[in-house]
Amino acid sequence: PTKATNIKALAESGGLTSVPSEYTFTTNPNDQAEANDPEYSIPTIDFSLLTSGSPDQRSKVLHDLHKACEEWGFFMVINHGVPDKVLKGMISVCEAFFNLTDEEKKEFQGTSNVLDPIKCGTSFNIAIDKVLLWRDFVKVISHPDFNSPHKPVGFSEAASEFSKRTREVATELVNAISETLGLESNYITKAMNWDQGLQLLAANYYPACPEPDRAIGIPPHTDHGLVTLLIQNDMGGLQVQHKGKWVDWNAPPNAFVVNLGDQMQVLTNDKYKSVWHRAVVNSKATRISIAVPHGPSVDTIVVPAPELLEREHQEPVFSGMSYKDYVELQQSSKAYMKPCIDFI
Ligand code: SIN
Ligand code: FE2
Repeated sequence: PTKATNIKALAESGGLTSVPSEYTFTTNPNDQAEANDPEYSIPTIDFSLLTSGSPDQRSKVLHDLHKACEEWGFFMVINHGVPDKVLKGMISVCEAFFNLTDEEKKEFQGTSNVLDPIKCGTSFNIAIDKVLLWRDFVKVISHPDFNSPHKPVGFSEAASEFSKRTREVATELVNAISETLGLESNYITKAMNWDQGLQLLAANYYPACPEPDRAIGIPPHTDHGLVTLLIQNDMGGLQVQHKGKWVDWNAPPNAFVVNLGDQMQVLTNDKYKSVWHRAVVNSKATRISIAVPHGPSVDTIVVPAPELLEREHQEPVFSGMSYKDYVELQQSSKAYMKPCIDFI
């Protein structure tokens, strides 16, 4: 069997014409949404109208955001004000990280602790994965404390600026989402201890694959946090499940792709759902994506918002669990390839 240390090295080793058996993951082409079907056209949120639009424009965007959260749980954010240079700079230092040698990367491998401040590797969790993923990754905790590998040159500076700017956009979005629920704009940030909230930078490297239909970059999953913002280089590969079909998400490189996570679903008592998504691979070129999940502080016990339950005369459908316990559960073998939210 192939030694699973690094998919990049395997893919670049030359002469690979098929997917090795331990990477074989079959997807069903019948589950794919038709390209250009208007039913699957992706909601777009113009961020500049949220922050500096007229009152009319702002309420229209809040309406669109409410719809996007309720019907999709996924949307694209444009005109967010984060300079292109900051986004491109981040992609390029991540690429440089993946180009480090195995020897250089070794010190960043981390431990079995899912909340290691810095961790790099391949697949998802080599200890429990039954199918290996066509993916290498590097992941850092960037908030409440900022961590960074000290290599390659420039990584730390680019990641620090990128995480700060991305967090500002995430904060505005969470405040707006709070409003779409008919709550005070700071309701979610207060209830989730956002000031101490977890932010991760998770960079993914998906090399070209000789048989893209027989491998997977990241299998179907939902994200554990509140909201995830994502950027990618010019290769698409993110797919989102909507009305039973997988929809290609071809966002331009300067947009943020945003999805709601499991803690948002718990907090809203199922009103806003976290959404299944996956990353497929392609045969042409390397894809790099950077997912930036934002969550509560790790010790927050997340429960359905009492104000919403009261207003909607609902019983809570989730019991409380600390965010840290939830993250650990999600990355354990118990939730392997299953909806983690079903366990709480
Ligand atoms: C993720 O879901 O964490 C990443 C998906 C992607 O690479 O687009
Ligand atoms: Fe994800």
